[in-house]
Amino acid sequence: MSTLFDEAKIGGLGLANRIVLSPMTRNRADRDGVPTDLMATYYAQRAGAGLIVTEGTQPSAIGQGYVTTPGLHTDAQVAGWRKVTDAVHAEGGRIFIQIMHTGRIGHSSLHGGEPQVAPSPVLAEGQTFTYEGLVDNETPRELTTAEVEQTVAEFVEAARNAIRAGADGVELHGANGYLIQQFLASGSNQRTDKYGGSVANRIRFAVEVATEVAKAIGPERVGLRISPANTFNGISETETEELYPALLREIAPLGLAYLHIVESAGREFTRTLRAQWSGTVILSPNNDGAPTGREHGEQAIADGACDLVAFGRQFLANPDLPARFRAGADLNEADPATFYGGDHRGYTDYPALAV
Ligand SMILES: Cc1cc2nc3c(=O)[nH]c(=O)nc-3n(C[C@H](O)[C@H](O)[C@H](O)COP(=O)(O)O)c2cc1C
Repeated sequence: MSTLFDEAKIGGLGLANRIVLSPMTRNRADRDGVPTDLMATYYAQRAGAGLIVTEGTQPSAIGQGYVTTPGLHTDAQVAGWRKVTDAVHAEGGRIFIQIMHTGRIGHSSLHGGEPQVAPSPVLAEGQTFTYEGLVDNETPRELTTAEVEQTVAEFVEAARNAIRAGADGVELHGANGYLIQQFLASGSNQRTDKYGGSVANRIRFAVEVATEVAKAIGPERVGLRISPANTFNGISETETEELYPALLREIAPLGLAYLHIVESAGREFTRTLRAQWSGTVILSPNNDGAPTGREHGEQAIADGACDLVAFGRQFLANPDLPARFRAGADLNEADPATFYGGDHRGYTDYPALAV
């Protein structure tokens, strides 16, 4: 049986181990969405991961939902990402950039007064951070059918830009209540065109994005993250047990690099999905809210639930997490106060083990 420290392959890419840096938004790009030198340092510090999946990155200005998140739709952003990928590769790491269109999550003030866009004009209750502070969410504007097709093209362009920036691939963010999951979930998708209504129609956007991005950059460079039954960001999903198997049936023939499951629906459903997916599975295990630790990862692999395990908060606080796991060393604690935004503090100053 494999362990977290065994080598692995995704697509044609060799990975040094099965420990993945979970995608984590850290809001340290500049106001134009350009990745900073500090971000290059942060990711290079974590290059001991078998695979780094970066923070969510907007494919378009309207796809941005939070302050100072990076983008992949301008030349300056591509140049910024190039510094990040070069720094990671110089340390022997592998890096996929997560493409995250936040859909209805966000605020009009982030893009010159233009409202957020979504499958349907359904408000996600709650509040969001803007440059002016915490404000109520707004009702999004419904995308026209032509605009949905245009949005697929934006994912494709962003993926091409990721490759231009030197990334090894992209992860499509279909989880956690952002645009792709807003299409999947009946609560946020009340459309009557080919993108709404039946399960076959609600999965269409995800399938088109995956298909077109795979065509553009090669399926071996594309991963997809999903979070069945997630309720975060006001998501209410119906027919989860029909929806995700239908989605996987459609995308399995593409031969993507991996499927990344956020285990919101529990281990049994993970197993159901895994049985349907002949390729690689990365799992972000459900630990009842506890940060994923070595024991959770080892259990998930022992259960046959996945091939690789994603570590979020523990990797955030321990830049050399794989080395610490190997050594059985103590871990630094993550400080939630510095998760989102700020400077190097709580970002690049978590100490590595003394050697
Ligand atoms: C600060 C922070 C930012 C996050 N940002 C993202 C993100 O941009 N994209 C994403 O798919 N998940 C995001 N997540 C979720 C993580 O990828 C992960 O699924 C979650 O933290 C649970 O894993 P853990 O227990 O190992 O921390 C974020 C989590 C944290 C703590």
